[in-house]
Amino acid sequence: MDSADQLTPQLTGDGSFTFYSQAFGEAFHSHYGAHQEAIGKFVYSTLLPEKAKQGSVKILDVCYGLGYNTAAALETIWQINPDCQVQVYALELNPVVPRAAMANAILQTESLRVQTCLNTLARDLEIQSPGCRAKLLVGDARQTLQTVHQHQFLADAIFLDPFSPPKCPQLWTVEFFQVLRQCLHSQGCLATYSCAAAVRTGLMEAGLDIGASPPVGRRSTGTVAGYALTGCLALSPQEREHLQTVAAIPYRDLTLADTAAAIVARRQQEQKCSTLEPTKIWKKRWLAKNAAL
Ligand SMILES: C[S@@+](CC[C@H](N)C(=O)[O-])C[C@H]1O[C@@H](n2cnc3c(N)ncnc32)[C@H](O)[C@@H]1O
Repeated sequence: MDSADQLTPQLTGDGSFTFYSQAFGEAFHSHYGAHQEAIGKFVYSTLLPEKAKQGSVKILDVCYGLGYNTAAALETIWQINPDCQVQVYALELNPVVPRAAMANAILQTESLRVQTCLNTLARDLEIQSPGCRAKLLVGDARQTLQTVHQHQFLADAIFLDPFSPPKCPQLWTVEFFQVLRQCLHSQGCLATYSCAAAVRTGLMEAGLDIGASPPVGRRSTGTVAGYALTGCLALSPQEREHLQTVAAIPYRDLTLADTAAAIVARRQQEQKCSTLEPTKIWKKRWLAKNAAL
């Protein structure tokens, strides 16, 4: 796990800061912009501006990290409806990360109300204030998600923001998605930045419909999932064909306790035995089609 002195702020394209994780060998956000990603990939994709008009909103923030997604959600909701009651469950392996974000004043452009909430959550792992009740559950999300499920929490919005599937496959498996699905309200929406075919088929295999969210900063779309999706983009023909290739074989973790290496090896084995089209053939075909346009 990263220690506080390993977490030094790095500037992203929109002027907001992120950290680089030495433990996972990956930045916490895309270099295009941490703040932009939170707003575009998570808050707007889960239709929170619309849901803010209700009296209350429930959010499940998987991989809370520096807290950008929750901060952007609270900011957006309260700008639209300052009286909206927000309940948040945030899951995070390493409590040092949100504390380092606060120590480095990374979210100082947020309103005082939101900054106060995030400071309290990082320090006390809990908020009980007018307008916001929140808990930061520390540990492996595969276990802490069970607590959320046991409390029969049904989220209007789920933010799924782990490191990439090759780096953190534990949080991209069909079995993990099945528990997430049980924590999603029938009208709720899950959003993630990933457009990986394995993630999309994994979500479908877990029983959810999927769609795309608009690109933010880069060309690729993100993914949204739910029981009754509205207002999202349909997958393009290229994206749909991607799901018929070997890359679409999902990650699996039958006991929700496997190591990352075991989950990756299991998928590689399944890919080896697959009769699906090799992904590089799909890629070549679409490179040619797109070049001809
Ligand atoms: C891409 S970053 C999330 C960025 C975050 N959403 C934000 O807005 O700052 C991934 C986060 O997942 C956490 N993480 C890694 N493995 C985890 C696990 N098994 N369970 C819960 N959190 C995990 C990391 O500590 C890191 O904070």
